[in-house]
Amino acid sequence: MEKHFIMNNRPIGIFDSGLGGLTAVMALRKLMPEENIVYFADSARVPYGSKSRAELLVMARQDLDFVASLSAKAVIAACGTVSSNAADILESYPLPVTGVLKPGIEAMARTPGSAPLGIIATAASIKSGVFRRELEKAAPGRQIVALPCPEFVPLIESGRTAPDDPALLQAVERALAPARAAGVSALLLGCTHYGIIRESIQAYMGNGVELVSAADCAAEESCRRLRSLGLTGGGGECRCYTSGPEEEFSAAASALLGFELHAEHVPPMKI
Ligand code: DGL
Repeated sequence: MEKHFIMNNRPIGIFDSGLGGLTAVMALRKLMPEENIVYFADSARVPYGSKSRAELLVMARQDLDFVASLSAKAVIAACGTVSSNAADILESYPLPVTGVLKPGIEAMARTPGSAPLGIIATAASIKSGVFRRELEKAAPGRQIVALPCPEFVPLIESGRTAPDDPALLQAVERALAPARAAGVSALLLGCTHYGIIRESIQAYMGNGVELVSAADCAAEESCRRLRSLGLTGGGGECRCYTSGPEEEFSAAASALLGFELHAEHVPPMKI
């Protein structure tokens, strides 16, 4: 099914509910700086983590169709919530689509030791049970602590990301206390937003706990696939679309990425 007629310099489409997927953009740009990227932030509908599975199935297809309409040659579904709830839709889509679920789980299974393993993700991701199930299969016998962190995405989207922000510190402690108490040796950041507050998570968990970013793992997996499919090439451009207020998104995205990015507004999609 891989497409021999795809032009190599077409962009890689990356999408998420908002700022989170930019962690995958940053990782991919480090690995493949020459690639063109189109990023879609569905900011009008953030957070995805509070949506039902039925809603997420529709939204996953809409997001894929949107980036495909921008001539994407391949896609990174840079959203743990979509990757866990709509895995079948991602897999059967007629473009090479890499989600964040499997690459993150595989990296967790490679972490050494016999201590419990932790997963943090959105409420909808944890509720799906998919992260836990996949990690149980990949790391049989390891105890698993899977925790939803519903406060993180709203804080990140509203810019409360400074490591000393009191609201963030409290939210981190509230969400992660069971993982720290369980003595996990590694913690999967199963929501792409969480990479933005990685420093706060590491500070709370301690330096002995290995943080595994599902966004980074997905970027690595996508890079491998693009190379093996001969789909590499481009001019290193990054274009961005948001279904929310474009100025707000452009400012937050530029600050994160470290270069000026002007997001274009697209009308919010309806379920
Ligand atoms: N960043 C997304 C994820 O990886 C979605 C977060 C949200 O919108 O709740 O799950």
